[in-house]
Amino acid sequence: MSHEAFPTEDPAVVTCGLPYANGDQHIGHLRTYVGGDTYSRALESLGQETAFVCGSDMHGTAIAVTAQREGVDPETFATEYHEQYEELFPQFGIEFDNYGHTDDETNHATTREFVRTLAEAGYVEEREIEVAYDPTAEQSLPDRFVEGTCPYCGEHARGDECDEGCGRHLEPGEIEDPVSTITGNPAEYREQTHKFFRVSDFQAYLSAFLDRLEGTDNAQSQPREWVEGELRDWCITREMDWGVDYPAEDDEERAADLVLYVWVDAPIEYVSSTKQYTERVGEATFDWAEAWGASDTDTVDEEARTPPAAATTNVDSPNPGGEIVHVIGRDIIQHHTVFWPAMLRGVGYTEPRAVMASGFMTLGGKGFSTSRNRAVWAREYLAEGFHPDLLRYYLATNGAFQRDVDFSWEKFRERVNTELVGTVGNFLYRSLLFADRNFEGVPEADLSPAVRERIEEAITAFREGVNDYSIRAVGEATTALARFGNEYIQREEPWNLVDEDEAAARQVIADCVQLAKAVAVLFEPVAPHKSEQLWAQLDEDGSVHEVTTDAALEPVEGDLGEPTELFEKIEAERVEELNQKLEDRVADATDEESDDDSDATETQESPDDEETDVTEFEPIAADRVGFEEFEELDLRVGEITVADPVEDADDLVRLEVDIGVETRQVVAGIKQLHDTEELPGTKVVVVANLEKAELFGLESDGMVLAAGEQADLLTTHGDAEPGTKVR
Ligand code: MF3
Ligand code: ZN
Repeated sequence: MSHEAFPTEDPAVVTCGLPYANGDQHIGHLRTYVGGDTYSRALESLGQETAFVCGSDMHGTAIAVTAQREGVDPETFATEYHEQYEELFPQFGIEFDNYGHTDDETNHATTREFVRTLAEAGYVEEREIEVAYDPTAEQSLPDRFVEGTCPYCGEHARGDECDEGCGRHLEPGEIEDPVSTITGNPAEYREQTHKFFRVSDFQAYLSAFLDRLEGTDNAQSQPREWVEGELRDWCITREMDWGVDYPAEDDEERAADLVLYVWVDAPIEYVSSTKQYTERVGEATFDWAEAWGASDTDTVDEEARTPPAAATTNVDSPNPGGEIVHVIGRDIIQHHTVFWPAMLRGVGYTEPRAVMASGFMTLGGKGFSTSRNRAVWAREYLAEGFHPDLLRYYLATNGAFQRDVDFSWEKFRERVNTELVGTVGNFLYRSLLFADRNFEGVPEADLSPAVRERIEEAITAFREGVNDYSIRAVGEATTALARFGNEYIQREEPWNLVDEDEAAARQVIADCVQLAKAVAVLFEPVAPHKSEQLWAQLDEDGSVHEVTTDAALEPVEGDLGEPTELFEKIEAERVEELNQKLEDRVADATDEESDDDSDATETQESPDDEETDVTEFEPIAADRVGFEEFEELDLRVGEITVADPVEDADDLVRLEVDIGVETRQVVAGIKQLHDTEELPGTKVVVVANLEKAELFGLESDGMVLAAGEQADLLTTHGDAEPGTKVR
């Protein structure tokens, strides 16, 4: 990798995809913000100077369409939601250093400056295009004002986005069979002049940029095909009133009717929001221009900057600046890995170092549905009395960030009860209680080397988690440490030791108190409020939010009092109650809708298993794996050449399997289930890159795939040769 590991000397900016100010947030939306907040806190814990910024996305047709439907002006409409979000995020511990919005003065100014610079450098040109028009409403139909069929995959799509199919951004005029969302009538196409950003000029640059890009795999792999295929220029203007005006200088007459496309001014808010942060705290605390590699600063080495006009030829060296990390949902990867870096490059700013794109969230295995009220709303979650850190923990650790995850109250309860209550809370409470009861505070003893090493390991896992962009790994560093603590105290039994060997008991409890402090420090990014409570219980000075991971090994010096339990169990009845509420609500919402609107997937219940005698299969894993992850498995067709039962082992057979390239020895647990003499000649599927294992003293170099308890061996249907890859 071309990037230095975190922490670096440069300032970092962590951003979250801007929420459209057009509706209530549900817990699925929170995944991005909790992810971003956790990541930025974790960076700070490593000692990285970090600004965490975001803002509301106020413009665009997502808002204009809904506001028009509700009969209010878009500004009033969006401002209401903006204010709601501003209040909501901190309630979940999501503490942006600055939360602005795209319609504020800073963003208008920054956006106009960006576009002017791009135009001056020759990256903007005018073109005549056909755009959708509603003759009845006498209005152009940009973006969400029109719906139709995606020209790439044939699915139903919005004017600027194939939201139900292939996910592509669609240019004006591309959608087929356009229908106006205002009147429901077929739209006409009419000719208009628009401004285009010459993204295609940046092809070579973007391709090199993707090679350097860090973050989740999906953000690097998904845009490849777009960047390496035909990279089309991007229409950056729309004929409507709501938005940032096209800077008029070059064409005042036409400009009067045009605003910039929402995806131009939205990411620029990342810069504007950082600027506002600097304006508030001063350059000495955080310098936005240094972070973004902006030209009007003396901290940037002018020699090393790429002048805008050379942005497309010089592909290799990113401009000097800070570490820009974008945390987003996976539906907006293209904007963050193609359009946005091209804009940044065009104006000579720092390119993103990483894009972390989260998977989607489902609710009890089905999609969230705002219209059906099938959602757990963020405010509702809090109103139910649940602590925000519980949800933060669930969201951060329930699956890898880029995977789709499922939320259900059952699973939520189970994770809270086993991991937070059973592991983390239990360890902390019993250790601190013991310290208070038996030693009236922190027992005096030097930290034992083994425990010190274990804490160091946790710090390393935490740091590696940050460098791997794995929020889950960051969270699990702490749960694993608490698990160790529990095992340690269980094994050493200080309650038995305390009478016979007081010194030994003292040692164990002193170690546990240190482990508790390490938990407070390392859990802060995931569970900031709970960590702060623990910090106070440990009677530590200052705030746990201010310390770095080194603090995990610094001695506990305050007076411990009687601890309180940090986490509470969730009862099974609560889950039933919450599920019932959700069901009733969905039923109400569905009743209100027209009768012909029956969506089978939403009403389908699992069949009554009393009458039918069906096998209970394991549920399908809730977490999806990306194609890339799947491709990491090297599956091959093999042919068994030798099969010998392993003596003394009840069910093992030693196989020799020809996998074309070579012959492998594989030890498989299939003895009773197969007549071993019959096996040679059988085609099988082999996992060829599985780690080697040793079974009964025999090396097993691969695995043969088989279904179920009867080890029904997977074979090939045709005559694929040994060695052929299975996909
Ligand atoms: N509002 C957009 C959405 O919800 C996201 C904008 S992110 C930014 O899809 F990059 F433009 F800022
Ligand atoms: Zn499509």
